[in-house]
Amino acid sequence: MRKKLIAANWKMYKTPSEALNFVEAFLPLVAGHTRDEIALFPSITSLPTVIHRVRGSNVAAGAQSMHWADEGAYTGHTSATMLTAVGATHVLIGHSENRQYDNETDERINLKVKSALSHGLIPLLCVGEQKDERQCGKTEDVLVSQLAGALAGFPKEHADRLVIAYEPVWAIGTGLTATPETAEETHLMIRTHLEKHLGDVANEMRILYGGSVKPDNASALLNQPNIDGALVGGASLKPDSFAAIVKY
Ligand code: PGA
Repeated sequence: MRKKLIAANWKMYKTPSEALNFVEAFLPLVAGHTRDEIALFPSITSLPTVIHRVRGSNVAAGAQSMHWADEGAYTGHTSATMLTAVGATHVLIGHSENRQYDNETDERINLKVKSALSHGLIPLLCVGEQKDERQCGKTEDVLVSQLAGALAGFPKEHADRLVIAYEPVWAIGTGLTATPETAEETHLMIRTHLEKHLGDVANEMRILYGGSVKPDNASALLNQPNIDGALVGGASLKPDSFAAIVKY
């Protein structure tokens, strides 16, 4: 049985005090919830505050991105060593917004996934096709190529810790959620591909869905056999809305 992971991607929202207010309100709403894992991904300036406040609870916290090097002349970046030093346990890698705006290439994503795993972080590797790619039947090619690039030379012994987040770009922040059937079909395709390359461990790996997940569509998505959680943007910014998704 794969335990589902419900994750909040706050993107570039919330100051540390706003993040703290969220956590204060959110923790009581999910107290005692053990069916699923819960993780918050605040901005880097709020991360230590959030980590401190969730310590000892059923909620984990991680970063929205990281650099692949342990240290060096990389102005503005944060390494896996720095993230683990403040107690982060998870990290998002390869989000489509980073692929689009920050020159996040498959090659860089590959280095980041390896660095995250070697430092004991749980990477959430984001993949997803653009609208025109789905419309012209290229979804499988795009996803297979993103996975192959991200996982080249991947250490199989760490595979059970890797989480994939399938986020169709056309569904992110648009209100256009993939139907549960479309999402399930795509997740199954991703798992079959992982199985071919990594073997049976693919059945232990979690594949999350992301893209306009909301309280009213969470249950239909999360009840699909190959959807092992959700990566939630907009609907994770309010404690009651994100708690309702956690309790789908
Ligand atoms: P959304 O964002 O839920 O606002 O569509 C999801 C994401 O980008 O991770």
